[in-house]
Amino acid sequence: MRKPLIAGNWKMNGSLALLERFGSALSGSALSDRVDVALITPFPYLVPALQTFRDRSVGIGAQTLNPAPDGALTGEVSGPMLQDCGVRYVLAGHSERRTLFGENDQDVSMRVTAALAHGLTPILCIGETLEQRDANRVEEVVLSQVTTVFDTLEPAERHRVIIAYEPVWAIGTGRTATPEQAQAVHALIRQRLAEYDSTLATDMRLLYGGSMKPDNAGELLAQPDIDGGLIGGASLKPDDFLSICYAAG
Ligand code: G3P
Repeated sequence: MRKPLIAGNWKMNGSLALLERFGSALSGSALSDRVDVALITPFPYLVPALQTFRDRSVGIGAQTLNPAPDGALTGEVSGPMLQDCGVRYVLAGHSERRTLFGENDQDVSMRVTAALAHGLTPILCIGETLEQRDANRVEEVVLSQVTTVFDTLEPAERHRVIIAYEPVWAIGTGRTATPEQAQAVHALIRQRLAEYDSTLATDMRLLYGGSMKPDNAGELLAQPDIDGGLIGGASLKPDDFLSICYAAG
């Protein structure tokens, strides 16, 4: 049985004041036995977030990392630094990294490998654009994004990855994929994972991201192959985020 995970991706938003509101809202929410909860914050808020949730009731994650362990890379953050601070998760290949910062599948694969090498749980973000969906290329695009990474990993490493399917056309648009659309792609991903290893397919948590809100979370999370959510806008409102967490558990 896969334990649901709800991860809030603040993107380049948030504040210490918001973190404090989350601390009040989530601490003592008695969710952690049913649902894994994570906050994926901008770098400056990682250590304050770890201190806010020092009971580890909420896992803290970074939004990206540089694949190098160290070096003359001004402005970058490495896996060893995230591990040193006690960060648990790290996104790899979020569509905004791919479209705005030029990360391709190989760049994403190096980030997943670096995360695994430093004890982090990578959340591999995949998803098609509206043009690719309209051209009936969803399966081709999404499975290529998965296999480019998974073909390079050792079997044991594959089991440490979480995948987030985020149709690009649903991110930040309010245009959520229907439960049927999301379930269909999640089932395709799980079917492809079974070709590596049947237990990998069974155990892998597949998150949905793309305008998941309190009013649609329940029907999305009720789908058999949707094991949680990667939440953007709604993760900036503690009450909305908490509602989604309760819908998962
Ligand atoms: O990483 C999650 C994000 O891409 C989804 O954003 O605002 O559509 O929930 P949003």
